[in-house]
Amino acid sequence: MAVILDGKKLREKIFEELKIKIDSMPVKPSLAVILAGNDPSSIIYVNNKKKCAEKLGINSLVINYPADVTEAEVLKKIQELNNNENITAILVQLPLPKHINKSRILNAIAPEKDVDGLTTYNSGKLFSGEKPYVYPCTPKGILLLLDEYKIEPEGKHAVVIGRSNLVGKPVAQMLLNRNATVTMCHSKTKNLSDITKTADILISAVGKKVVGENMLKNNCVVIDVGIFRDETGKISGDVDFETVSKTASYITPVPGGVGPMTIASLMLNTVELAEHRK
Ligand code: GUN
Repeated sequence: MAVILDGKKLREKIFEELKIKIDSMPVKPSLAVILAGNDPSSIIYVNNKKKCAEKLGINSLVINYPADVTEAEVLKKIQELNNNENITAILVQLPLPKHINKSRILNAIAPEKDVDGLTTYNSGKLFSGEKPYVYPCTPKGILLLLDEYKIEPEGKHAVVIGRSNLVGKPVAQMLLNRNATVTMCHSKTKNLSDITKTADILISAVGKKVVGENMLKNNCVVIDVGIFRDETGKISGDVDFETVSKTASYITPVPGGVGPMTIASLMLNTVELAEHRK
């Protein structure tokens, strides 16, 4: 039976350390979150971000827009936040309404306030092996979790399913920077299980049940980034936990694995950006 990679426990440990650090900061970090539209998951995520920030002593500001907000209006707000000395971190919650150009919006954020590390500046730094201001939250959280359990990526075969800018691509790059051998799979990959069977570390970030029984070799480390409600209404991930946890060496639960680590990383990034400004 696999060891559970307990994201909730590590988040609490990170929060305890962060609280002490923030208490000692003369000027507190300030996180501004832009939420456009009323995607139910996004509303929950943003409320959670605000709650965690406040618990830690980080100032937080949520700017809500209706789904029909114009791109120009959001861009104007980002400019205003960029120029506001009191704001140290800016996050635009994704997904954005369809009529808004995501890339234009994200790239309007000043790189030194880009708490998600998603601007072309920061992702370019990551992909060229230089240091971005901060690393994207979910990939950073995954690496912190691996480090906590002393799982070393170097020399391992890491298979990443999903090629999003938010998770798949940056986590693959971060594992590559840690000397893993990385294979990326996606919706057009043929014979997925032939590839997953060779993984020492498997990371699935798809949002659909794609990893089932007999798709992995014994003792694989399994990281499940997916989170959605299945047909029965239960919160579920990309991985069939019941069967896969019998042969994996380590596995993240859903909920309680990667999700809490994303928010822990967001709080870490918020503090890092504020410290950087000093
Ligand atoms: N939507 C889902 N996850 C994330 C995240 O980590 N950052 C942002 N900005 N939006 C998201």
